[in-house]
Amino acid sequence: MGAAIARLALAAEYEVVIAGSGSPDRIATFVGYEAPGARPVTAADAAAANLVVLAIPLGKFRSLPAEALQGAHVIDAMNYWWEYDGAIAELNDPLTSTSETLQAFLGDARVVKTLNHMSVYALEHEAREAGDPERKALAIAGDHDTAVAQVAEFVERLGFDAVMAGSLAQGMKLEPHTALFAADEDAAEVRAILDRFWQSQRGRVVARARGLV
Ligand SMILES: NC(=O)c1ccc[n+]([C@@H]2O[C@H](COP(=O)([O-])OP(=O)(O)OC[C@H]3O[C@@H](n4cnc5c(N)ncnc54)[C@H](OP(=O)(O)O)[C@@H]3O)[C@@H](O)[C@H]2O)c1
Repeated sequence: MGAAIARLALAAEYEVVIAGSGSPDRIATFVGYEAPGARPVTAADAAAANLVVLAIPLGKFRSLPAEALQGAHVIDAMNYWWEYDGAIAELNDPLTSTSETLQAFLGDARVVKTLNHMSVYALEHEAREAGDPERKALAIAGDHDTAVAQVAEFVERLGFDAVMAGSLAQGMKLEPHTALFAADEDAAEVRAILDRFWQSQRGRVVARARGLV
């Protein structure tokens, strides 16, 4: 996922650095092959970028360099999969979106949820110029206006319309087991799916847990 986003960002003429969990040397061959033009760096160095995309298994979020990310604008492109991440109660709580849990861990970073609800295949194959009638859309959720605006510009430059989903708490509408997840739709339909969330099966589960029904 990280390499695919890097390729899209390079095509949009961003300067791109990539980090894994180890030293840059360990990923140099991978980066040279999968995202030529990107530069391998440490996670702490990547945290200093103007915009940081987090695309690691969500169950490992506590291994992120939280201190280095203070003040950073951060895209949360991650999803919780218990089959893969293991059973982690705080990531499976209908009272909070997984992005809110990440935000609590990252403190003063400005977390914005997006890129997570489309498959890596669709991201790479559906990117289109603005105005193309077949252009698809990505939903964006966040609490910080400047970070959300920067991320919306990033998403648009990557090749997708940006649809505002509201606060980071609303990021729940982008998570696995929602109608939006793996949807491959244009802006009007993404908006309609977001608006129908509370009538969906997942929406009813969340509403019941929150005592809304
Ligand atoms: N695949 C998709 O279609 C797709 C679509 C949307 C969203 N996502 C989400 O994107 C995330 C990544 O998925 P993936 O399929 O790309 O997983 P993956 O192939 O397992 O890659 C995970 C990467 O995370 C790195 N990593 C782990 N801990 C790290 C840390 N503390 N600091 C820096 N890097 C770290 C690993 O680097 P090392 O090897 O160096 O540890 C590895 O390169 C998941 O949350 C997934 O749900 C995936």
